[in-house]
Amino acid sequence: MRFQKLAAALSAASITVAAPADAIAEGHTLSAAAASDWEAAYTKANAALAKLSSSDKIKIVTGVGWGNGPCVGNTPAISSIGYPSLCIQDGPLGVRYGTNVNAFTPGIQAASTFDRALIRERGKFMGEETKGCGIHVLLGPVAGPLGKNPAGGRNWEGFGADPYLQGIAMAETIEGLQSVGVQANAKHFILNEQELNRETMSSTVDDRTMHELYLWPFADAVHANVASVMCSYNKINGTWACENDGIMNKLLKQELGFRGYVMTDWNAQHTTQQSANTGLDMTMPGSDFNGGTKLWGDRLSQAVSSGQVSQSRVDDMVKRILAAWYLLGQDTSYPNTNINANVQGTHKTNIRAVARDGIVLLKNDGNVLPLKKPSKLGLVGSAAVVGQHAQNTCSDHGCNTGALGMGWGSGTATYPYFSAPADAIRARAQTDGTQVTISSTDSTSGVSGAVNGADAAIVFITSDAGEGYIEVEGNKGDRKNLDPWHNGNDLVKAVAAINNNVIVVVHSVGPVILETILTQPNVKAIVWAGLPSQENGNALVDILYGDTAPSGKLPYTIAKSANDYGTTISSSNDNFNEGLFIDYRHFDKANIAPRYEFGFGLSYTNFTYSDIAVEGKVTSGAATGNVIPGGRADLWDTVATVTVTIANSGNVKGAEVGQLYVGYPASANAPPKQLRGFEKAVLDAGAKQTVSFKLLRRDISVWDSTRQNWIIPAGEFTLYVGSSSRDIRQTGKLTAT
Ligand code: NOJ
Repeated sequence: MRFQKLAAALSAASITVAAPADAIAEGHTLSAAAASDWEAAYTKANAALAKLSSSDKIKIVTGVGWGNGPCVGNTPAISSIGYPSLCIQDGPLGVRYGTNVNAFTPGIQAASTFDRALIRERGKFMGEETKGCGIHVLLGPVAGPLGKNPAGGRNWEGFGADPYLQGIAMAETIEGLQSVGVQANAKHFILNEQELNRETMSSTVDDRTMHELYLWPFADAVHANVASVMCSYNKINGTWACENDGIMNKLLKQELGFRGYVMTDWNAQHTTQQSANTGLDMTMPGSDFNGGTKLWGDRLSQAVSSGQVSQSRVDDMVKRILAAWYLLGQDTSYPNTNINANVQGTHKTNIRAVARDGIVLLKNDGNVLPLKKPSKLGLVGSAAVVGQHAQNTCSDHGCNTGALGMGWGSGTATYPYFSAPADAIRARAQTDGTQVTISSTDSTSGVSGAVNGADAAIVFITSDAGEGYIEVEGNKGDRKNLDPWHNGNDLVKAVAAINNNVIVVVHSVGPVILETILTQPNVKAIVWAGLPSQENGNALVDILYGDTAPSGKLPYTIAKSANDYGTTISSSNDNFNEGLFIDYRHFDKANIAPRYEFGFGLSYTNFTYSDIAVEGKVTSGAATGNVIPGGRADLWDTVATVTVTIANSGNVKGAEVGQLYVGYPASANAPPKQLRGFEKAVLDAGAKQTVSFKLLRRDISVWDSTRQNWIIPAGEFTLYVGSSSRDIRQTGKLTAT
């Protein structure tokens, strides 16, 4: 597809083109393919603009108001240019409110696969469903929150607590979605790290941390030619994100060369004139949630008449929106909007694969897993069976009752079916002739009947979170603590007191403190099953029985204590005092031993690493390229390649995620290690493969706030290659002279 070629070409040499002066500053360059695609789209947009009346233009940038169309966001059709009523719908895991759609795996599960191809396919399939429903813009993927707070309510919508992982997953998802002609939307821009007070609080972060952590994945999104970006609810340094010149005009449009449009989060706009003049391009849903206040529409027309907002600024908004529509080819034969279309196709193959390959095996003493035709299995916990959550009976999945597949809020979709653990295990047990007993509540009293005399007892525990407009069991979006819900610790203890082969399966939105569980000697295995959506049970059976060896890796750190993270939900404004040191960057710097580190995950086989080689000559200094979508062009140049051989030294087929972490020269004052590459190698027993990691200029640069540029520091870089952020198997060096 066009965008796949385009992505490949983006790293190629760039040429200077005449960019529209009002879209990006003159003299900037674009890579050849990106330039011609956006140029062609802007040429069409300019031609269309000439046919529009002033009121048409205002319509294109203003939503029709809350509740007034088939989607959560809609703009009016403009017949003179064949422009449809734009249908803008949540969300990051598929078509919200679709009645015949799939509920894809949440972003966090996709992240824990560390599998680029699966993540891209997930995006493509979501795109096919979106397009099949005649929806023009899908409101995802999510790179904000980044996940600095482990309790953050919406972390599960995004791709884990590392900007590099988030960035790769953003780009793959966007390219997948847009390859079929759907406009993606990168959100929430920016520093929207918690649900508590999200619509009133201010986040303030230092410039370096902004660039190296929070802006980083959005740069990948822009580089992947994302059509639109959603500004967030919060303030940044005292100014609302959706009327913030530094954020929208400077960072996004000038520094990152973003040529699409910025839309508000729903009702995140506060002013008519300031939002227009600071870079906002579309207001959603166009009114407040009572249908009352409308800050654009007529008020924007008046602001233009009175000279407070220039006509050229409004024209720029319109061109950006139309160019994105043309860029995705939505002007030719796009389906009519029908949110009830049956668009499921065979996409569930991807859901099962991501659900399965995102499972992280944390502990497996005595190789209790995979199961070997047990004669009796005891299952315990309400999360083993279908409950209200799986039956879609709680609005936006705002309940944690029964088996869990996703968090709650606007970023959810309706399950077409739900494979619960007990269903899938029973089906498998029939083929093995295994007797299955179950205690399907979270009460400790029913436990003994289910697990007495069983070869193994499987206990299901959960932790849930979501968007702050729904409160679930005292959790107002953000989690009130990192403990398992429903007395999960006590449930595990009760089972472990009776059965000496206990397997704990955790379905969770993010880290859970496992210390109580780990002190039970009879807990032999912990299967971190994450958020597997509708394929929950099927994916679990694939792993429990060893049809596939586990290959997922943690996309965040699991600490021994919640205090170890060094970040918490702020009760008022948040100054991001931890700076660069979130998640593993903090544990490494502060020398705190995590329980399970970022990137950790066991398999049913073993992998050995050998023969690291580093190729490339690096010169220190500043990036000098012109701005293309994503920032200066040379930031995307490969400056070094690291190769390593990974061998499957065990007895079964498996997959290993080789990870590259970079340690900067001391002068850079950087975190001890930062993820800068990962490759998943699928290996038969005894097989080996050489994997290579391409280091881009940006991967070894630091942001210099004084020079306002990315700089490669002089000195020696350490290149750590391993099986997790702490299980380093090979080390190399790279010197910037
Ligand atoms: C608010 C959420 O923050 C955003 O992610 C979502 O897309 C909109 N509501 C629309 O539902």
